[in-house]
Amino acid sequence: MLTKPYSPRILLSLLGGSVLLIAVLFLSMKPDTINTGPDASIEDKVEALLKKMTIEEKVGQMTQYNGFWDATGPAPTDGDSKWKYDHLKAGKVGSVLNVSGVENVRAMQKLVVEESRLGIPLIFALDVIHGHKTVAPIPLAESASWDMEAIEKSAAMAANEAASRGINWTFAPMVDISRDARWGRVMEGGGEDPFLGSAIGRARIRGFQGKDLSDPFTLAATAKHFAAYGFAEAGRDYNAADVGTVTLHNVILPPFKAAVEEGVASFMNAFNTLNGIPATGDEYLQRDLLKGEWGYEGFIVSDWGSGSEMVAHGFAKDLEHAAEISANAGSDMDMESYAYAKHLAKLVEEGRVQEKVLDEAVRRILRVKFALGLFDDPYRYCNDKREKERIYHPDHRADALDMAKKSIVLLKNEGNVLPIAKEQKNIVVIGALAEEKNSPLGSWRFGSDDNSAVSFNEGLKTYTDQFKYVKGPDAFLGETSFFNHVKVNESDRSGFDEAVSAAKSADLVILVAGEHGYQSGEGRSRTDIGLPGLQQELLEAVQAANEKVVLVLMNGRPLALPWAAENVPAIVETWQLGTETGNAIAQVLFGDYNPSGHLPMTFPRSVGQVPIYYNQLRTGRPGPLDVVFWSHYTDETNDPLYPFGYGLSYTQFKYSDLKVKKGDAGVNVSLSVTNSGKLDGEDVVQLYIHDKVATVARPMKELKGFEKINLKAGASKEVSFTLSEKELGFYNPQGKFIIEKGEFDVMVGQHANDKEGLTASFEW
Ligand code: NOJ
Repeated sequence: MLTKPYSPRILLSLLGGSVLLIAVLFLSMKPDTINTGPDASIEDKVEALLKKMTIEEKVGQMTQYNGFWDATGPAPTDGDSKWKYDHLKAGKVGSVLNVSGVENVRAMQKLVVEESRLGIPLIFALDVIHGHKTVAPIPLAESASWDMEAIEKSAAMAANEAASRGINWTFAPMVDISRDARWGRVMEGGGEDPFLGSAIGRARIRGFQGKDLSDPFTLAATAKHFAAYGFAEAGRDYNAADVGTVTLHNVILPPFKAAVEEGVASFMNAFNTLNGIPATGDEYLQRDLLKGEWGYEGFIVSDWGSGSEMVAHGFAKDLEHAAEISANAGSDMDMESYAYAKHLAKLVEEGRVQEKVLDEAVRRILRVKFALGLFDDPYRYCNDKREKERIYHPDHRADALDMAKKSIVLLKNEGNVLPIAKEQKNIVVIGALAEEKNSPLGSWRFGSDDNSAVSFNEGLKTYTDQFKYVKGPDAFLGETSFFNHVKVNESDRSGFDEAVSAAKSADLVILVAGEHGYQSGEGRSRTDIGLPGLQQELLEAVQAANEKVVLVLMNGRPLALPWAAENVPAIVETWQLGTETGNAIAQVLFGDYNPSGHLPMTFPRSVGQVPIYYNQLRTGRPGPLDVVFWSHYTDETNDPLYPFGYGLSYTQFKYSDLKVKKGDAGVNVSLSVTNSGKLDGEDVVQLYIHDKVATVARPMKELKGFEKINLKAGASKEVSFTLSEKELGFYNPQGKFIIEKGEFDVMVGQHANDKEGLTASFEW
């Protein structure tokens, strides 16, 4: 234990002066109970270290740089790399991102730990979004599984691999709710619903962080982007979000609150403005709500350069002003703006930012570093043998395969075209995406190796040699990368006719079509969400040539495909499934895995319906009326193409015996589910409520419970849910959670618009 440096008694005898002065000093003193012994708590360790730090070192902990030189090579001698290197050595950097691999991490950590005055270890961050080297399905696909155990396992697999490569912090999960399929980043999230999105966010946090962050096979997770990034106007990335408080509190914030409850280590703020305030400078969101009302103790990192972007937003006049605003608003670590590195110390000197603001931020950051065990051993994530063993470990591939098959959604299966009999002859596979080994890895897959996915064709080959591949026209042209737009083939029809004539003579056609993996993700909004390029025309020509077509879709967002939904007998949504793509799809097509995915986002009939989502408010003019004056379109129905929660199976499930009982714990809703088909399968039982009259108009339907169950053919199971105040209440426009008495409708079904779902009402 440290001895108390100023006990009140000693002070009295030393000063012997005015009682008032002593009283003031006494009150301003924090009793010093810092334990620095081996049993010291993290809080004690943080306080002890903080006491030793200069302003510059505190600013350093609040600064994150992108990797800027080959850490195993010679030290940089000029340019920006030189001063950044000097900053690292001087302890003026708290974290780096995009440096991975044991050798690199070790070299950079060594520099900081051995050369800087206090030797505070760096925390190494990376976007480990869906797998690492072994790539899992994109998060939107995983969300379609509605299988929290599988999602948790997939995140744990990603953490295990990335942690073996020196990483200790991931910028995931993205828990932004979005209702706009034009927004490219929907691929990275849990879809449109706050209830499902919260459960998915929690599962991913549990998977990344494990039971204890000090376990070196785990990663600190990040809930991002706080807040409303998914509500970018018109689905255009980085655009402003203008959201009412009811939507903010009931739709956007719940997954973030759930992340706090799940113990997420960090938060990331966002690029967008929310109601005119850039998220990075939003004091209400960061200080009042997150750190205040919600009592969050982790730290907030800015998004890449989002501090400096406040200048472009017209919210800060220059970088110095941006540093002042974001530090005061509670953004603890500056990613790549250089605003804190360049200006924060001076701002403290001038009194524009209080030193206690820095102390609070540094405490939060150090807490996570201690929890990760980096002070016990800064190299605990750096083990060459472990790195070699864990990358592409067969267990990881098995997890990725399991997740991939559970992510697939069967959208249509007229005449039971699927599953394909194993002895099926004369299959023709068409479509450039069928041979792709890169695109199915999806967007946001740092760490992965290009062209490392099992292609559709490779997967199919493990089942049958009775197929011929005729590519048809190219879908995309030239090289693709994370940084550039994908070039879509709009006009080169080479191979088109050959594909159509091959289709003519086939017994079964499988057409693989959709988006390139780099057509979704950051900076990749689209106004046309149909099949890109010539693929729609190809589909129509192939379907005209042969009626028996299975359309295998690969895409990173909901697509508007009304023609296909109407005309193609079988449609399988496979998203972008990562490393095991081809194997997972083949298992589903040939019936070795009975598809069980359900959509986490509504599929529109046309982009003009967007934003379209199931939990809409009612209008005063629901219609239909004989005259035009009701809420509708003149050229399209209001209905989606495929509703939220939708997904078929090769078997059928029947619901019966709905019972609603009020008890002490809340309202118990139970029903019996029977697998009435001939195959074993999994079902996602979904419970929706509707609050009929309230002081704030409530959505037509709200998901408040779901369970994924596995049933043998012919078997039945009772499924039950409890609705408590948590599910029945809502946030009012002041952001206050309220519970009102009244009548509720309840519907249990297989998707949000299930006309065959069971219904009942109850009074609360
Ligand atoms: C920008 C993205 O918006 C964010 O999600 C990501 O984590 C950072 N860049 C770091 O790559």
